[in-house]
Amino acid sequence: MNTLTKSLTGLGLGAALSLTAGTALAAGGGGCGTFTNAEGVDEHLACLEAPIDFTNKGSLQNGAKIFMNYCVGCHSAKYVRHSRIAQDLEIPPELLEKYLLVTSDQIGDHIDPEIDPELQASWFGAAPPDLSLETRLRGEDWVYTYLLTFYEDPSRPWGANNLVLHNAAMPHVLHNMEEELSEEEFHSEVGDLVNFMAWMGEPARHDRQVIGFFVILFLLVLLIPVYLLNKEFWKDVK
Ligand code: HEC
Repeated sequence: MNTLTKSLTGLGLGAALSLTAGTALAAGGGGCGTFTNAEGVDEHLACLEAPIDFTNKGSLQNGAKIFMNYCVGCHSAKYVRHSRIAQDLEIPPELLEKYLLVTSDQIGDHIDPEIDPELQASWFGAAPPDLSLETRLRGEDWVYTYLLTFYEDPSRPWGANNLVLHNAAMPHVLHNMEEELSEEEFHSEVGDLVNFMAWMGEPARHDRQVIGFFVILFLLVLLIPVYLLNKEFWKDVK
């Protein structure tokens, strides 16, 4: 095998592998845990499937809006710059500066409310983690299910508990939204939010998948001349 084919195969294999890794992650990894039902029996909780679609700019923009309005009061997303959001999500920088610049006043800054984690831990019982890579860590279906399964529980300090993360220290911050919207609308809003979070975790995922597809296609097409050449080279030797 010459170096060119070798490196091409390397590339193709890399793309194929990362495609499978992406799918495995999208499947939600270890599921969404167990919960105790009304009869006191432990039941397995299947993850709901998050509606991920990076080509849907409207959904990503809405997700960014929800994230900047409801989440960055406590969570950072330190690996994401506002300017990248404007660029990739096709939000005019003036609009982003006006409506989505919540944690700083510079569009080049990362999303970071700069709150002391130790202080936060003393307020909530646990510090809110950085959310840049949260969907990669837990799986996007986990995050989607987590955000949809807050329930009232007077025994908890904030009056809410969660089916996926038992005794979560996070309040049910989308409570008002859940009250005001129909179930379908609420699921759709949270779907947009998780779509945006998945984009934060890997902004180039869509491009990678498209490139991966063409790399494999190219390799398949390349196989034809390579096979014929191979036949040609060996025909006198045999
Ligand atoms: C009032 C502060 C606060 C706000 C606002 C808030 N969170 Fe949280 N969040 C927390 C705290 C505290 C935790 C830690 C929970 C724990 O470990 O028990 C947490 C945990 C999480 C986790 C689970 C992390 C993990 O892997 O264990 C996710 C996901 C999450 N938040 C997403 C969000 C999203 C999305 C929003 C916006 C809709 C949001 N949070 C708004 C305080 C907040």
